[in-house]
Amino acid sequence: MLQMTDVKKVFRTDLIETHALRDFSLQVDEGDFVAVTGPSGSGKTTFLNIAGLLETFSDGTYELDGVNVSQLNDKQRSRMRNEKIGFIFQGFNLIPDLDLFDNVDVPLRYRGFNAKERRKRIEQSLDLVGLANRMKHLPAQLSGGQQQRVAIARALAGEPRFLLADEPTGNLDSTMAASVMALLQDINARGTTIVMVTHDQVLANQAKRNIFVRDGQVSELSTGAAFPNAAIA
Ligand SMILES: Nc1ncnc2c1ncn2[C@@H]1O[C@H](COP(=O)(O)OP(=O)(O)O)[C@@H](O)[C@H]1O
Ligand SMILES: [Mg+2]
Repeated sequence: MLQMTDVKKVFRTDLIETHALRDFSLQVDEGDFVAVTGPSGSGKTTFLNIAGLLETFSDGTYELDGVNVSQLNDKQRSRMRNEKIGFIFQGFNLIPDLDLFDNVDVPLRYRGFNAKERRKRIEQSLDLVGLANRMKHLPAQLSGGQQQRVAIARALAGEPRFLLADEPTGNLDSTMAASVMALLQDINARGTTIVMVTHDQVLANQAKRNIFVRDGQVSELSTGAAFPNAAIA
């Protein structure tokens, strides 16, 4: 379970202070699938990066699986991130010189699994995303939708409890976006908790819960299908 209470994040440069999150409070329960929408610059990515222990925050509390993350040192944070969290980004972030097998292997190497265990996890996760027969392909030999599936396999290979996705369909056409969303729903049904930032209200409506972020705060909470008109679009 993920619980943020009054989390604040301020970015400071010489000239300007940006309050990216102001009293951001949210609870995400085990098994949930939360879609996060909101205007550009409202703090969605900042929230996701803090949730994923990639970024620190200035004030408030954040508990992940009952652990107050502010009290962890860098090494403990990294370990918790590697063990519990998988990330998917808009730009896929695959390594172009590595084939699919080796791309999915990258985070597993950090975890110290032996070669046999890694191979098993890589094959299983590529199989789950329907790319088991492409293991020796390079990312450039795949469509955008397939590349995002590889990124999802990479995120899942470590069997994370939480999958955090920042506009995972932002670079995809609507058909590919729908298939990536279907895959995420399947993964959620298998028990992985998902938080997904998206611009796409149609996809957001397919999640179990919708939250809306504005000016660094959660300004609206609603259950799925809260925007029936958008769903028809
Ligand atoms: N590293 C950073 N340094 C300074 N300002 C930042 C940084 N990251 C984000 N911001 C600012 O924080 C606000 C929220 O950004 P972000 O979380 O990326 O919004 P969103 O993902 O909703 O578009 C924006 O005003 C953005 O310019
Ligand atoms: Mg963003």
